[in-house]
Amino acid sequence: VERVTIPVLQQCKEERRRIVMTTAYDAVTARIADPIVDVILIGDSVGNVCLGFDNTLPVSMAMMNHHLDAVARTRARALLVADMPFLSFHLGIEETIRNAGGFLQRGAAAVKLEGGAKRIEMVRALVDCEIPVMGHLGLTPQSVNVMGGFKVQGRKADDALRLLDDAHRLQEAGCFALVLEGVPAELAARATEFLTIPTIGIGAGPNCSGQVLVFHDVLGLTEGHRPKFVRAYAEGFQLLQEALSRWAADVRSGVFPGPKESYRLPEGLAETIAT
Ligand code: KIV
Ligand code: NA
Repeated sequence: VERVTIPVLQQCKEERRRIVMTTAYDAVTARIADPIVDVILIGDSVGNVCLGFDNTLPVSMAMMNHHLDAVARTRARALLVADMPFLSFHLGIEETIRNAGGFLQRGAAAVKLEGGAKRIEMVRALVDCEIPVMGHLGLTPQSVNVMGGFKVQGRKADDALRLLDDAHRLQEAGCFALVLEGVPAELAARATEFLTIPTIGIGAGPNCSGQVLVFHDVLGLTEGHRPKFVRAYAEGFQLLQEALSRWAADVRSGVFPGPKESYRLPEGLAETIAT
């Protein structure tokens, strides 16, 4: 099977074939997603999805590396993009390059980082080191404290114009693609139209070059509140819990394990150990 590369994504945009991206955090989720999608993101959403945090801010480079390693070991055909966690690209160019370069050495093909104008210098530095960068604008979860919650961005004229300007700057700085999260559909459509690089939307309407959703959201594995932009294609949480409870009931009633799930002694030995 042919591996998905960055030029393939650019071709998708030019030929108007929509790009499909989801997250994976370990070998199981990567193996399920890999034959289906174009891009696998090792998202810092691992913090809330898998590690029990309320937001992505506590996610460290060590945590990201741990999960990236598990995904990379599957030798996926999809393009692997690793998310730069909070504070991994803010403290200086050298540390940023070391963190992002480390992701590539561990098997990622690219990194993603949140933010616009303020992050251009870091984006340029990474691109100068042959580290491909995916941008991320709009509802950037690492800005939760500044935004005052997870709220749709770019609804006011100045915010919308700033987002378009940021998008242009990220493209100029060398980003190969751009995630647009939690923005009005018309704004994402406008950015997709004037940018030459592909846009990948999440809560950004249908007129992007591709779409991304968190793996656990697509499969209904997350409990409780579902954001408006999520469509769950399975009720995974209930489905898995129902199967697990049937096994538990079989254990409690003595129906599991049965003869098919048990090993037997060779002919004659049963009598020997009985005496
Ligand atoms: O961490 C993540 O899962 C993301 C995607 C939702 C874009 O950044
Ligand atoms: Na993220």
